[in-house]
Amino acid sequence: MPFIVWNDRLSVGVAGIDHDHRRLVEILNDLYEAMGNGRNKQILGQLLDELVDYACYHFEREEGMFRADYGEALDHKAEHENFVAWITETQSRFMEGSAAAPSLEVVNYLKDWLFDHILGRDRRLGAHLNELGFH
Ligand SMILES: [Fe+2]
Ligand SMILES: [Fe+2]
Repeated sequence: MPFIVWNDRLSVGVAGIDHDHRRLVEILNDLYEAMGNGRNKQILGQLLDELVDYACYHFEREEGMFRADYGEALDHKAEHENFVAWITETQSRFMEGSAAAPSLEVVNYLKDWLFDHILGRDRRLGAHLNELGFH
C-alpha cells in the first residue's frame, strides 16, 4: 500500500494541474518507500531534490495559469513560496546533519501540506479556470 493513494477527490478539474499533482504524489511515495527500505542518504537526498525541483516546476506552471481576475493570486503564490522555503531548508538540514533519513514528521508534513493545498487553493483555482472554460 503506497503512502498516498490518489483518489478523484484530489482532482481539481484541470488536466495539466492534476497531472503534476499525481507526479508529486508519486515522488513522495517513492521517498516514503525508499525510507522504509532503508535506502542510503544519497538516494534519499536525491528523492528530496527531485521533489523540490518538481514542486518548483509545478508552482511556476500553476502560477502561469493565474488569470488577471483570479483574486487569490498573491496568497496562492505566497503559499508556494513558503513551501519551497520550508522544503529547501529541510533538505539542506538533512544533507548537512547526521540523520540517516528524513524523519516521519517530515514526510507527514509534506503529505499534509500537499493535501491541504490541493483541496484548498488549487481546487478553488481549478473551479475558477473551469468557469473560464479551461479544463
Ligand atoms: Fe498551488
Ligand atoms: Fe498545485
